[in-house]
Amino acid sequence: MPDTPKKFYLTTPIYYVNARPHIGHAYSTIAADVIARRHRLLGNDTFFLTGTDEHGQKVQRSAEKAGIPPQQFADEVSATFQNLWKRMGITNDDYIRTTDERHKRGVQKLWRDLEARGAIYLSSYTGQYCVSEEMFVDGPPGTIGPDGKPTETVTEENYFFRLSDYQEKLIKLIESGPNGEPPALHIQPETTRNEVLSFLRGGIRDLSISRTSFTWGIPVPANETHVIYVWLDALANYMTAVGYGSDAPADVAKFEEYWPADLHLVGKEITRFHCVYWPAFLMGLRPPEVPEAEWNAKWLPKSVVANGWLLFEESKMSKSRGNVVRTETILDAFGALCPPVPNATPAPATNAVMAAAKNAVILSEGHSPQPKDPEVNRHADTAQPISATGSALAPPTKAQQDLFAADVIRYFLLREIPFGQDGSFSFDALITRYNADLANGYGNLVSRTLKMIEQYCSAVIPNHEGREWEERLWLEDKSSAEVVRYSLRTADLQGSLYDTQAFAALLTEAQLAIKTADEFLSREAPWKLSKSDAVDKNERIGKLLYTAAESIRIITALLYPVMPYATASVWAQLGLGSIEEAARNGELKDVKWGGLKPGTKLGPLAPIFPRADKGLAQIMTEMESPTPEAVNERLVSSVTAEVSLLTGEPAAPAVPESTPIITIDDFVKVDLRVAQIVIAERIPKADKLLRLEVDLGPSFSPSRRQILSGIAEWYTPEELIGKRIAVIANLAPRKMRGLESHGMLLAASGEDHSNKPILATFSDEIALGSRIR
Ligand code: MSP
Repeated sequence: MPDTPKKFYLTTPIYYVNARPHIGHAYSTIAADVIARRHRLLGNDTFFLTGTDEHGQKVQRSAEKAGIPPQQFADEVSATFQNLWKRMGITNDDYIRTTDERHKRGVQKLWRDLEARGAIYLSSYTGQYCVSEEMFVDGPPGTIGPDGKPTETVTEENYFFRLSDYQEKLIKLIESGPNGEPPALHIQPETTRNEVLSFLRGGIRDLSISRTSFTWGIPVPANETHVIYVWLDALANYMTAVGYGSDAPADVAKFEEYWPADLHLVGKEITRFHCVYWPAFLMGLRPPEVPEAEWNAKWLPKSVVANGWLLFEESKMSKSRGNVVRTETILDAFGALCPPVPNATPAPATNAVMAAAKNAVILSEGHSPQPKDPEVNRHADTAQPISATGSALAPPTKAQQDLFAADVIRYFLLREIPFGQDGSFSFDALITRYNADLANGYGNLVSRTLKMIEQYCSAVIPNHEGREWEERLWLEDKSSAEVVRYSLRTADLQGSLYDTQAFAALLTEAQLAIKTADEFLSREAPWKLSKSDAVDKNERIGKLLYTAAESIRIITALLYPVMPYATASVWAQLGLGSIEEAARNGELKDVKWGGLKPGTKLGPLAPIFPRADKGLAQIMTEMESPTPEAVNERLVSSVTAEVSLLTGEPAAPAVPESTPIITIDDFVKVDLRVAQIVIAERIPKADKLLRLEVDLGPSFSPSRRQILSGIAEWYTPEELIGKRIAVIANLAPRKMRGLESHGMLLAASGEDHSNKPILATFSDEIALGSRIR
């Protein structure tokens, strides 16, 4: 009887739309995609969800700053996330937006259901609110919030959720049973689980779940002066995406099929929301007549797994710190390295090909080209117009380039950082790892093996007369035994390593198997054997190359979820057709030694991972920094704006990450002062430019001076007058539009939607002319 497929429902966090995607977001999405692909190849009925979190004060403020309605703002940023996932070949089954009608309807139903169970009450509350994290925090006014900024005092009449009722229940849910039974809610890694437990043991208060201080959210049913707390709104996405809140039969069936979630993959900073609030909300829905255990089994997520943070220059990559690396940069830079692809997909091996191959002369003496060590080709895996098997190669499409580069990112992130821990991202490390593991490792092994099969075995997986294609017999052979053992060990371990998200360990295993096969080939040197007089040399070469090819097949099956594009190419070159199809047919799960059929005709050969030049790191660094052309897009200061907008001259590229180190002596040369804007006015026929007069105080003579600044797109003259700002006082004067500018204003880059330069300002307490250092 066929097994009923097991369902597997997994999710990523839904990303805030107040920032454009960076590689930290991609990290979580990639991990989820790898897990989804693994479950699909196991035959599980997999549902993989991602999306965007679009409500809340943070988004409302970002939209206001950008000067556009919040819905339009959310539409634009959500589209950049969706485009990126598309470029990267992410296989999410659905994409939920919290502004979707289906979601809003579901959240309101959730609210009404909780209310009906008595889990919600109305009360008033004054507290310290952290806007960027959308949460109240304990402490007196002025308390610093989790984002490092002072909180705001907010008094609100709020609806509350009876969270305190669930303290004990949650602890029980997360702890193992008294006899070591596994917890109902599995949390990983252990450190995260312990943090959640100690938070719970410290006592929890009821949770405020509505807001009246802003409007960009889902209204509370029957009291529209309140909007629903953004985290209640956001967490509900996991349910609304699979049909909660809809009566349509298809949605009801979908919910029945997939709920509850099997795995919520989240960044470690949001585990409290997923391990405390979320299960508590779901418990709050329980009708009194349903026993708790029964309800929990049907409604609560099975596991929450936290990924660590990607750090850039030692701190968490985040928009507010301005230290982000955009995934698009790597797609563009590495995509350019994507090798050409065979023009047509190879036909799968037919019986006729098999029969022909059976009789194939493995090594036709006298006719073979001068045997050479394919080792010399180690680094020559570069683009070529004709594939080794003679078919034409075509340049890759843009979509293929993206998928190629996405594989590199996937491999790097999962190999480099033990999942669950924090890890640093750098372009240098990316290139080093790529060259070592992919170009010189996997790619080189595949290329040399397949080229030899082509050269010595007429491009057909060799036969080996008189032997069974069995692991046992291969293991008896001292020389190949190690290759077999490492390949199979990797295959055996993959189940448990994928299941525990031990990606780095898994990929280390794969590299070990690759290295073993590579060393085996170098040691056994089929190219030398071919020149020898040994009577059984054909048989021996056949066996050597079969061993290497079979090892590649096993490793490739294992690597598929991590590198779907590259492994598809290898699979096709091995003559096995489409790897996606193999995944669907269950051919990638229990791979056994001997599965590669002798007689299989290789597909057209093509390079897989050309070596990357170290200079690529520099290119990517520059791509991350605004160039003169991009200066309109990413302003770092009004200075660059002035120069490029006014004169069309290339602005000095502002390079936050790669600026040279300066000494204190360099710094003190810049005379930074506090000045007050006393006059601000537009300049006729210069849309971008404002004429300012600033007062530097009595220590300067004259105390007033004129500065021209290219900020007219973002600031009206009226709002500037009276502001105390930072200026460079000792800048050589320059003429613009016939007017002289004596200095420059300081502004921070608008990395956000509008690119608005945000002026550095001071309160009235600071005297004019004060030095800034
Ligand atoms: N909208 C909430 C989540 C709601 S889920 C119901 C949110 N959004 S977020 O845009 O801030 O994205 C957070 C997630 O993106 C993190 O939990 C993590 O999965 C991922 N990452 C964002 N920056 C990251 C790093 N620097 N490193 C690793 N992951 C990062 O929180």
